[in-house]
Amino acid sequence: MSDTPLYSALCALADQERLRFHMPGHKGNHLYMDAFADASRLDFTELPQTGNLYEGAGPILEAEKLAARFYGAEQCVFLTGGATQGIMAALFAVCGGGDGVILDRGCHRSVTNACGLLDLDPFYLYPERLPGFSVCKSVSKKELFELVERNPTAKAVVITSPTYYGAVSDIEALGEVLREAKMKLIVDEAHGAHLPAIGIKNAIRCGADIAVCSAHKTLPALGQGAYLLANGISEGVLRRAASVFGTSSPSYPIMASLDLARAYLSGEGGERYVKAALKTAIIREKIQINTTFRTPFFEKNDPCRLTIDTALSGLSGFFVAECLREAYRIDCEMSDRQNVVLIVTCEDGDEKLDALFKALSEISAKYGKTPDGYTPLPLPRPEKRMTPRKAMFSETRGVALQKAEGFTAAEPVAPYPPGIPVVIPGERIDRLCIEYLLAQGYNGYEEIMVAGKKDMK
Ligand SMILES: Cc1ncc(COP(=O)(O)O)c(C=O)c1O
Repeated sequence: MSDTPLYSALCALADQERLRFHMPGHKGNHLYMDAFADASRLDFTELPQTGNLYEGAGPILEAEKLAARFYGAEQCVFLTGGATQGIMAALFAVCGGGDGVILDRGCHRSVTNACGLLDLDPFYLYPERLPGFSVCKSVSKKELFELVERNPTAKAVVITSPTYYGAVSDIEALGEVLREAKMKLIVDEAHGAHLPAIGIKNAIRCGADIAVCSAHKTLPALGQGAYLLANGISEGVLRRAASVFGTSSPSYPIMASLDLARAYLSGEGGERYVKAALKTAIIREKIQINTTFRTPFFEKNDPCRLTIDTALSGLSGFFVAECLREAYRIDCEMSDRQNVVLIVTCEDGDEKLDALFKALSEISAKYGKTPDGYTPLPLPRPEKRMTPRKAMFSETRGVALQKAEGFTAAEPVAPYPPGIPVVIPGERIDRLCIEYLLAQGYNGYEEIMVAGKKDMK
């Protein structure tokens, strides 16, 4: 690949065999770290030849410009702290200090943590469930319009699209509502970095002001690599916001992988992605027809997200994921009571997807039974008692989940993955929340941090 300014600059520097009297301490040698040999060669620090992420110069800036063009954005800032860093930076760039924000309730816990850190007052969009499934539809224009009318002073809206389960929102339609209301639209596109490669208009091209893409989730990029993309926001504001939540020693291998992933996606990787998407559509169809499992169809799907609903097989998602892991060496992204979620990327060829289908049909034939009548619990709507900030910065203590009814959460209570909080800091933990968390397989800390005293409700 030729158009990789940052990766090429690092390789050229590494080839010069210079004396490295600077960080990192390994000095480009792998020593005892054989497995990291190539990574340590390229693991540099801020030098005139490598550039400085937060100054926006040199090969990093060149690489960011190419990424911005790929996503149709005016600005792109590389992130080495995942989409988490990008979401916090995005909110910091456009609001703070008591401002209202509208969040979709399927948001990631980084969004609610940002509300606590930045003192934002959230109002929630509760998207409807997809009929017959336990997963939610994308956010509708009508739902957003109503919430905006009720909260006209909110500064920004955060929408998760695609969702963990593969629902893509109509960002163009949502953007129309917000332009009239003069609110900023931030799209948590953590799961959608690959969309342009498969011909789906990404959030920035649909009119979002800011979008945050986790490259490491769906692109062949290193863990923690992500892109912060924006239109209509100055580069300085964006870069400063990213630096507030980022390390002052951003990883050059991670940034180089962001450069490479974009270049790869623009060529061969893009072609492979299209093939993977087409094959996934075939597998989806075969699962529907030949097994007792189903796959949800949203108004608009991420073609590469394979969500398998296990309810009609009478098996739990946990069980199906365990069978795949133990008997077939297939590891899933996540499972819950009723779903198994698999991420397909350009790295998954036909054979891998065929092997997955074979495993699923065998599990369905061997264990599939009459459904046990399980119907998903309704999504809890806990009562808001105080802002996330007040709850997070109060005096807190740990309480076991089963004993937490009546307390106010001081942290997001979210099974991980998907990291979607069932209870947000400042909300009352009620009986339904506890039952829902247990049914979904809550795997967080043994104790939940709560603020203040238990109520008697
Ligand atoms: C919807 C969503 N947003 C943001 C994040 C945070 O991404 P990262 O792990 O890149 O920080 C996640 C992580 O799972 C996520 O699912």
